[in-house]
Amino acid sequence: MFNYTCLNPIAQVGLDELSDQYQKVEDINDADAVLVRSAAMHDMEFSDKLCAIARAGAGVNNIPLDKCADQGIVVFNTPGANANGVKELVLCGMLLAARDIAGGMEWVKENASDENIGKAMEKAKKQFAGTELKGKKFGVIGLGAIGVLVANVARHLGMDVYGVDPFLSVKNALSLSRDITVVKSYDELYEICDYITVHVPYIPDTKGMLNKEAFAKMKDGVVILNYARDLLVNDEDMKAALESGKVARYVTDFPNPAVMQMPHVIATPHLGASTAESEDNCAVMAAHEISEFMENGNIINS
Ligand code: MLT
Repeated sequence: MFNYTCLNPIAQVGLDELSDQYQKVEDINDADAVLVRSAAMHDMEFSDKLCAIARAGAGVNNIPLDKCADQGIVVFNTPGANANGVKELVLCGMLLAARDIAGGMEWVKENASDENIGKAMEKAKKQFAGTELKGKKFGVIGLGAIGVLVANVARHLGMDVYGVDPFLSVKNALSLSRDITVVKSYDELYEICDYITVHVPYIPDTKGMLNKEAFAKMKDGVVILNYARDLLVNDEDMKAALESGKVARYVTDFPNPAVMQMPHVIATPHLGASTAESEDNCAVMAAHEISEFMENGNIINS
């Protein structure tokens, strides 16, 4: 029997996995294990009792890994469990960047009762005209669980897909290269692509990686998609790149104050993994990891 606590609401299906055998407590000081989604844990003190933290999601940047290592607390994440949810939102972002669906919808609401709507629509069709994704060059930075799914979507849309990942094994690079062109450097990808999507973790090496130096190497009018972490993009440099037209559209799953109100920015409040299915998958995987570790000492992390 062990005690666990949840720092965020975790999908019930995950709690059901635990609640028969283990006891839920409110105070983290009474917990042997913690389930967490996005709550920042950096300023928290951990009692000697705490053995494991499971992050119901991919990124572990809300968890103080060094402190956990010092205190011998095992940290799990749930790789791939929400990848499909994120992939589908990236697809929405790609389509929203190419076609002014949001503008068109707004226009319909405003003009629906106009008796001359037929005439007005001819103008609207020009005003909201877009471009097609087919045939465009699509770059994926980070070929993990999410990046690979996104690359496949783009391929099925008829895009030419390029990918880069400094940590990609030769074996994975070879198997991926049947479907996408794996390039050796970020710069190579920047030079080629019309659309660039980023799917890397937020770590010191990736902080602000999409900055003025990177934008300078990209095509004029590039579309950037960021469904990973806000701090991968330097906000001020993005603002300047949007103002100059270097970046034609910035599609982001973060409400960054510096750019949020700018035209050509499409922003959502970190909804990538917010689907019923992704939440269930993450909760079940996190619960499994915790119970397997607490009961049998096994570290499965998948
Ligand atoms: C992740 O890292 O997988 C996401 O941030 C998940 C979430 O929204 O909680």
